[in-house]
Amino acid sequence: MADISLRVNGSERKVSVSPDTPLLWVLRDTLNLTGTKFACGAGLCGACTVHVEGAAVRSCSTPVSQVAGKNVTTIEGLSANGLHVLQKAWIAEDVPQCGYCQTGQIMAAAALLAKNPHPSDQDITNAMSGNICRCGTYDRIRRAIQRVAAGGVR
Ligand code: FES
Ligand code: FES
Repeated sequence: MADISLRVNGSERKVSVSPDTPLLWVLRDTLNLTGTKFACGAGLCGACTVHVEGAAVRSCSTPVSQVAGKNVTTIEGLSANGLHVLQKAWIAEDVPQCGYCQTGQIMAAAALLAKNPHPSDQDITNAMSGNICRCGTYDRIRRAIQRVAAGGVR
């Protein structure tokens, strides 16, 4: 066990866990931030995507020791009221089906738009290709991202 400090959704948090504990389990089990989902557990599906220093990261395969002292943002921290512009676009495009993958999809899309507010179709494909949706909502995800990029949601 070790004491590890990190900044989660703007707040300093200190956790006592084994340093190799995946960030996902620290978020879900230690900090009770259950919006981030577990699926493959092997860095292959994107369901567990969070931001570390603004970049999309697979929390299931990131040891918490790697994010010591860093800024981590989860879906709970994306906006104060759950109405981040992407979340509004997701609603407008009626994106989710079962919904399980959508936290990771939105976090991946948010990381993309933060560094590239007007992505091309290819940029969207490149940024989102690692996020799997078993329900096949890919077209609606793309439309929601395009809607934000076009300024169609405020
Ligand atoms: S649960 Fe982390 S990539 Fe699939
Ligand atoms: S909405 Fe069901 S897995 Fe994506």
